[in-house]
Amino acid sequence: MDRMPSQISTFSLLLFILVLYNFSTVDGNAEGDALFALKTRLTDPNNVLQSWDPTLINPCMWLHVTCNFQNSVSRVDLGNANLNGQLVPELGQLVNLQYLEIFGNNISGIIPEELGNLTSLVSLDLYENQLQGHIPKTLGKLQKLRYLRLNNNALRGTIPYSLTTITTLQVLDLSNNHLRGYVPVNGSFSHFTPISFANNPKLIVPALPQAPAPAPAPAPAPLVS
Ligand SMILES: *[C@@H]1O[C@H](CO)[C@@H](O)[C@H](O)[C@H]1NC(C)=O
Ligand SMILES: *[C@@H]1O[C@H](CO)[C@@H](O)[C@H](O)[C@H]1NC(C)=O
Ligand SMILES: *[C@@H]1O[C@H](CO)[C@@H](O)[C@H](O)[C@H]1NC(C)=O
Repeated sequence: MDRMPSQISTFSLLLFILVLYNFSTVDGNAEGDALFALKTRLTDPNNVLQSWDPTLINPCMWLHVTCNFQNSVSRVDLGNANLNGQLVPELGQLVNLQYLEIFGNNISGIIPEELGNLTSLVSLDLYENQLQGHIPKTLGKLQKLRYLRLNNNALRGTIPYSLTTITTLQVLDLSNNHLRGYVPVNGSFSHFTPISFANNPKLIVPALPQAPAPAPAPAPAPLVS
């Protein structure tokens, strides 16, 4: 009988810890919901997303997901995972995400402009998929980005000038798409060579800066498609 009070206080201590834990992982739940929204748009014949259980308190125990010390998602590693389907705008809610690696799948549809909200992103690797539509100009907001690889997709439209403002950009690969128009040469794009833009038949890659300036042309050459 005299053990009763201590059991009660142990119980209330546990309750207190649980409540505290819940409060400290509210963001984790929101991030779990965002990632689960992605899962619902994908077909996953190899069951790589099997551990993505939305009833867990946060997504930090899910396979292919890494969290920082505050239980906020810092990496999503789903390269070469045989995934089919589309990306979702909810991914833009992962504000501490540094690495988004979804290369080498069969992802179609557009690149959501909400990915421009991932301002912690260091690496955005969506290469070797079936992505369509334009490169969102919002990606220029990714001012910590070092790797941007969107090569081997079916992207259209022009290269947004906003990307030239990403001073941290070290590796850029936009090759093997259907981009058109002029490749920017200013800002961070002054580092990149034509290899970054190869195999976009309608893209106009300026001559390398070292080349002597051409005499003024009589008329612009017609665009051949
Ligand atoms: C890739 O996705 C497209 C639909 O976007 C589908 O028609 C095709 O069969 C898929 N390929 C593979 C290998 O799953
Ligand atoms: C994220 O980006 C979209 C479109 O770029 C914008 O409309 C939205 O307000 C942003 N969300 C947050 C939470 O910043
Ligand atoms: C590069 O030039 C474009 C078009 O003139 C401009 O919008 C963009 O801000 C420039 N980028 C930098 C880094 O100055």
